Amino acid sequence: MKRVLVVGSGGREHALCWALRRELPEASIFCVPGNPGTMTHAENIPLPITDLQAIVAETERLQVDLTVVGPEGPLAAGLVDLLVSAGRRAFGPTAAAARIEASKAFAKDVMRHAGVATAASATFDDLPKALEYLERHPEPVVVKASGLAAGKGAVICGTREEACLTVEEMLAGGSFGEAGRTVVIEEFLEGEELSVFAVTNGREVRLLPSAQDHKRLLEGDEGPNTGGMGAYAPVRIATPELLARVERDVLLPTLQELERRRTPFRGMLYAGLMVTPDGTPMVIEFNCRFGDPETQAVLPLVTSGLSNLLWAAACGEALPEVTVAQRAAVTTVLAASGYPSSPMRGQRITIPQDLPEGALVFHAGTALDDTGHLVTAGGRVLAVTAVADSFDAARTVSRDCADRITFEGKQFRRDIGWREVGR
Ligand code: AMP
Ligand code: GLY
Repeated sequence: MKRVLVVGSGGREHALCWALRRELPEASIFCVPGNPGTMTHAENIPLPITDLQAIVAETERLQVDLTVVGPEGPLAAGLVDLLVSAGRRAFGPTAAAARIEASKAFAKDVMRHAGVATAASATFDDLPKALEYLERHPEPVVVKASGLAAGKGAVICGTREEACLTVEEMLAGGSFGEAGRTVVIEEFLEGEELSVFAVTNGREVRLLPSAQDHKRLLEGDEGPNTGGMGAYAPVRIATPELLARVERDVLLPTLQELERRRTPFRGMLYAGLMVTPDGTPMVIEFNCRFGDPETQAVLPLVTSGLSNLLWAAACGEALPEVTVAQRAAVTTVLAASGYPSSPMRGQRITIPQDLPEGALVFHAGTALDDTGHLVTAGGRVLAVTAVADSFDAARTVSRDCADRITFEGKQFRRDIGWREVGR
């Protein structure tokens, strides 16, 4: 593979460009549109990711061998379908298969037919019926906008009353727009969350290290839900036995059901699981792409074989092995002041030149101002990953680097991986 194009502009895409560059020192790597961080490893191409035709034309002009699509938006909008029709290879599912993420109602239906364990749920687009269903629902209740909502479409409601209000806001009030025109109401699951990353050619899977995300803004898992404030990998509860069970009971039946529906899934099938206290992996959601910020923790551990794996999955070929370092990675996200509701932009960022060995700084919401200075330009600004021989060492380095990078109003959690401490 000599020419690769990555679509997206977040920390996940910076990590993808970084990992591909590490493996393919001679390749031409492009990123649409990229960010100031991806520029170090790839050539940024300033096109909007919503302009699918322009992206396809660019892959033709540049004679790209493989396009790796980062975010769910272009996948759900059919970028891979267009690329494939144009005779280009792409890593990621078709729009029909991407519905596993883009429609929670569809995902629930697939799981029901595939016999995959997930929270008991019902789907509604009619308000009176939804309210009637809620009358007998045990508390707490989880209410989800069915469509894409940038990771913010799940509302955990302590009481039925709150759930009724949330459903009403989604179905009648238009909160979450189109995404909330259909709602999924489901039981609350207890346990520990785990993100499992399965690269698939549609039939078989190859797992990358499993990770744990930290969705809440504040330490101790308090505060509002965010896109993710940090992640670590590997996770001790993700034993080989558990992962074998996830493959057998969750991933393969889901892929078979999608194949049966004539919408085979190729690309990254990301299972967001709740591992219940008795050790059962239950699906909270599927995503059709790499996780963010988990990718920033997972890819630094994959020391070789990533590009061949992505290529094989895209081509529907047998999946090669990857090499995974027996080390630990901890990623701390640095968010802007005001995140998640109204992040402040334009704050100057200073990154020390002498960060310790094993520290990687991935850009997400950054930009260069008129004077060429790095400034904040989004909610999640940077992610600092530390790779070390032990979880504790990685955690210390990641936290220290997060301390030393400065910008006005910086927010970050010092407790990434807290569940792992003392395990
Ligand atoms: P989702 O948008 O489906 O990924 O949900 C966002 C977050 O809400 C998840 O990462 C969980 O922390 C939480 N969540 C979603 N569904 C459930 C559930 N059924 N039980 C408990 N927590 C949930
Ligand atoms: N880290 C959660 C996600 O990528 O959806």
